Amino acid sequence: MTLDVIGLAGFNYTFDALNENATPNELNQAFSTIFHSGSNQRTMMLLRIISPLFRYIRTSRDTVAEQAQVVMGRIGKELLSSSKAAVAQSEKEISDRSLRSRNLLSLLVRANTAPGIPESHRLQDEDVLAQIPTFLVAGHETTSTATTWGLFALAQEAEIQSKLREELWSVETDTPSMDELNALPYLDRVVRETLRVHSPVPAIGRVATVDDEIPLSQPVTDVNGDVHHSIRIRKGQNVMIPISAVNLYKPIWGEDAEEFKPDRWLSPPQASSAIPGVWSNQMTFIGGPRACIGYRFSLVEMKALLFVLIRAFTFELAVPADEIIKKASIVQRPLLKNNPEAGNMLPMLIKPYTRI
Ligand code: HEM
Repeated sequence: MTLDVIGLAGFNYTFDALNENATPNELNQAFSTIFHSGSNQRTMMLLRIISPLFRYIRTSRDTVAEQAQVVMGRIGKELLSSSKAAVAQSEKEISDRSLRSRNLLSLLVRANTAPGIPESHRLQDEDVLAQIPTFLVAGHETTSTATTWGLFALAQEAEIQSKLREELWSVETDTPSMDELNALPYLDRVVRETLRVHSPVPAIGRVATVDDEIPLSQPVTDVNGDVHHSIRIRKGQNVMIPISAVNLYKPIWGEDAEEFKPDRWLSPPQASSAIPGVWSNQMTFIGGPRACIGYRFSLVEMKALLFVLIRAFTFELAVPADEIIKKASIVQRPLLKNNPEAGNMLPMLIKPYTRI
């Protein structure tokens, strides 16, 4: 569903991902080939990060991935040229700006072709094209995985699930607007708590561009007994930002940091306000100039998904919770502890909910 959403909202492109009877979608297939790497491929990816020499060793998957990239490039060019044509036509024919097409690509094309900006500030076609896979990757599995973990948490907390359902049924329409969804306080707390406890991206890398010294809030004693008040990093050094660890850090969140308690957001701990995240005192969407630019989009998308699912169904886990483990390859997804080879899954008992 999130692939369909980002396809339409991003590029006016129909993936039809939920339609099992549809002819397999060319872009969807190319996309899965590139991003759903097996464990061998992940090992090769890591080796290539550690030593560029490994980039000279080609695998059979490299050939498949290159073919998929050709498909992606071709479809991207088609989308870009039809978007340019549509924008040019709508500029001429539709004077009311609110009625013009407003997907991400057309907004980008419109901004990029606007009169009055210096030529040197315009993006080249290849730069515009590069946004397509970026948004598809960044805006698809992150939100679907976040919602999956939300259902995982709710499936274990029957009371929280029914309280949420009550709030959702208090809305009089089946198709609430973005503002109506954002006005639901309990749904908002459930989403905040899901993204804190089950951050879809558990850690992210950065590279230091200058030598620097990172101050520590509390001194650390190393194995030699030396006390440090800061950590020195060198230019070029890789730095891992431990998103989940900050979101679950007991000195900030308290002894129950790992528990799913939406009501903690009624008065979040004072210490959490020092976390430099772009949203909700947490690191889930990271912070600073390269923070997630799609977070508002993903929050309302998650709310819309939960609105529909929790109103229509009840969710219970079909296996004990400790049989579900998290496996991260950028995004962390659920797997069965006893059968990881079976791939990502979250077995649940889903029953239609009948409102009396
Ligand atoms: C729960 C859902 C999401 C999570 C947890 C998430 C998390 C993140 C994180 C941690 C980053 C930083 C990555 C890095 O710097 O290496 C990021 C970047 C980004 N995200 Fe999201 N994201 C989510 C949904 C979305 C959606 C729905 C979109 C698009 C509509 C999106 C678009 C982007 C883009 C374009 C970037 C790159 C920004 C830049 O480098 O300047 N994300 N996201």
